[in-house]
Amino acid sequence: MRMLLMGPPGAGKGTQAERITGYCKIPHIATGDIFREAIRGGTELGRRAKSYLDAGELVPDAITIEIVKERLRETDCMPGFLLDGFPRTVPQAEALDQLLIDLAMRLDLVLNIKIAPAILVERLTGRRICRQCGTSYHLVFNPPKQKGICDRCGGELYQRSDDTPETVGDRLRVYANKTAPLLEFYRQRGLLQEVDGEPGIDAVWEVIRGMLRSLDR
Ligand code: AP5
Repeated sequence: MRMLLMGPPGAGKGTQAERITGYCKIPHIATGDIFREAIRGGTELGRRAKSYLDAGELVPDAITIEIVKERLRETDCMPGFLLDGFPRTVPQAEALDQLLIDLAMRLDLVLNIKIAPAILVERLTGRRICRQCGTSYHLVFNPPKQKGICDRCGGELYQRSDDTPETVGDRLRVYANKTAPLLEFYRQRGLLQEVDGEPGIDAVWEVIRGMLRSLDR
């Protein structure tokens, strides 16, 4: 399975990606996670990416495309992969097309998680993430058993620096201007399927699992 997971910030991409990649046994490649990891590690990439993430802006295409090119050439991506948060611009989508031609690969599915903007602000500002294992929680919709502590590994939960109400507004504007137009790009190729992201996490997953099962047949 070679798939793209799309949707606005907070739609539930990371949450569902964990289930999809477990079910399909494919690597989860999330450009946002790669940037945050680089920032934490104090690498050159992290230094270049930080100001963009803090402002809710996109990291320049040239940097982002190079990262994905390298990652998709790794051997664990040969049987399949899930790209989460890439592509986000027309030049990124065009670069992905060319890369897949070079690698003699084809996409099987572009899945868009649809959701009303009003819900996203609450989802993002209430999100908390484990510093150790990266598991994502929500203060209301998916709370940890013990406040501030990860159920899975006991790590400390923190709030992403771009999950403040001001930056969330900027991220939603960037999504509407630069990324949403890509849906039409994939619709025209017959690759786009959509799922309603507003029901609960398990309900959304059930619909996605049904889609994956029918593609398997
Ligand atoms: P990135 O990390 O990709 O963030 P994003 O697209 O803004 O998406 P999020 O991770 O915020 O949301 P999500 O859809 O994964 O939601 P989640 O599942 O966590 O990008 C961050 C930044 O990196 C960008 O702003 C940019 O600077 C840079 N970047 C990344 N990729 C780039 C690219 N290709 N080009 C250039 N720059 C790039 O869910 C959110 C919350 O809701 C959680 O708390 C969760 O528990 C809860 N939740 C999830 N589903 C449900 C549900 N069904 N019901 C109730 N609650 C739910």
